[in-house]
Amino acid sequence: MPKVKSKEKKVKKPGKEKEIIKKERVIDSESDKIAKGSKKTPQILRGFKDILPGEQKYWDLLRKKIEQITLDYSFERIDPPLLEETGLFSRSIGKETDIVGKEMFSFIDKGEENISLRPEATAQIARAYISHGMFNLPQPVKLYYVGPMFRYDRPQSGRYRQFNQFGCEVFGDMHPVIDAQIVILTYNFLKELGIPTTVQINSIGCNNCRKEYKVQLVNYYKTQKQDLCEDCKERLGKNPLRLLDCKEEKCVAIKEDAPQIIDFLCDECKNHFVKVLEFLDELEIPYNLNAHLVRGLDYYTKTVFEVWAENEEKKGQNALGGGGRYDGMVEMLGGRATPAVGVSLGLERIILKIKELNLPVPEKEKRDLFVGQLGEASKRKTLKLYETLRAEGLKVAECFAKDGLKSQLEIANKLGVKYTLILGQKEMSEGTIILRDMEAGVQETINYNKVIKEVKKRLEM
Ligand code: HAM
Repeated sequence: MPKVKSKEKKVKKPGKEKEIIKKERVIDSESDKIAKGSKKTPQILRGFKDILPGEQKYWDLLRKKIEQITLDYSFERIDPPLLEETGLFSRSIGKETDIVGKEMFSFIDKGEENISLRPEATAQIARAYISHGMFNLPQPVKLYYVGPMFRYDRPQSGRYRQFNQFGCEVFGDMHPVIDAQIVILTYNFLKELGIPTTVQINSIGCNNCRKEYKVQLVNYYKTQKQDLCEDCKERLGKNPLRLLDCKEEKCVAIKEDAPQIIDFLCDECKNHFVKVLEFLDELEIPYNLNAHLVRGLDYYTKTVFEVWAENEEKKGQNALGGGGRYDGMVEMLGGRATPAVGVSLGLERIILKIKELNLPVPEKEKRDLFVGQLGEASKRKTLKLYETLRAEGLKVAECFAKDGLKSQLEIANKLGVKYTLILGQKEMSEGTIILRDMEAGVQETINYNKVIKEVKKRLEM
């Protein structure tokens, strides 16, 4: 649709105004083409998906499970916005990461702010923790979120440009038991859905232990430079830890012999990691020490982990979830020094797994009762009856759009209702209504004024 022109006048700087108006005209003429021109139907964007009614049972299941597990582990919900200043993400996730460097949906808005659709929510929650003064609350502060994230990724199975995450973040406690609890929550969430997983875990230490490691890593990679992909050649100079994230086959092979960060950890980071593992051992959580796991975001310190569906060790790029500790982020964003740890899980990937494993998913709650009608006067009366039954807490369905009884009964059958009420001309004049037992296929005529009582009696309500 054409833009509302009055909005354009709000732009303050006259020079820029022209530019913005010009851009909007281009958008106008594009949409005009769609509206007036060819018969071409607009297509959904690549990497985006409609979640259709038939899919909703999977989402309902996950929503319920999320509500339960966050209640069990005492997390409170937070819903940050979908748009933020681009700087929030580039500062925290890191400019050289794939997410910030290649995958953000960023644009200049009408107020000339550089903003981005959120590619993840951890940085947002840290921003919210600071801006709402949550450091004044009793610590740790435990928050969770569910919602869409946006990354201009190469679309493929389990990889979309809009996808949903469930995430948990804990602020204000540095004890390794918190890292372990985040891993345990993640593992249990998937296990209780019926998805067996292994936890891939590593420690990438603190800035101090990473200094020497980076030197050694660069030395090693320099000897392999001629075989690296173009991106990795650049990473070598800019952000060597990201060399370990590369998914290119030749770089994955080179990674195998790279030095391992675990050999460079300082005493404090080593002790922290050992304790995390001891807590996981205590609960017999299966984990795999993955020496090259560094995760694709710059903000991590100490513990990092991912959960992979069992038998998918080789396809690590389709992790169901991942997270870790990020003790420096709050301070780096301008807050007081606050340790933090968290995880996010990809809901589309979990649903794919549920389907692949054929796991049981509860169907939508069934209706008990159907209200059928014959003729205009009956339609009016049953329209009201339907509302009364619903207000009485009965699970009732209808199809006022249809007139014929046969087609209405077909719908009632499809819905699997136990009883159908039918109000025709005869019943209207007699002050009665037909009550049909759908399973037995028998029907009786009852007093219209007693319909609620009779139905409730049969449904044992
Ligand atoms: P992440 O590893 O970038 O971490 O994403 C977490 C999960 O989101 C992945 O394991 C995956 O299941 C899902 N995911 C990521 N990209 C896509 C995509 N393009 N399509 C479908 N699913 C995807 C984070 O986002 C961090 N915020 C995790 C965290 C929380 N760290 C500390 N706290």
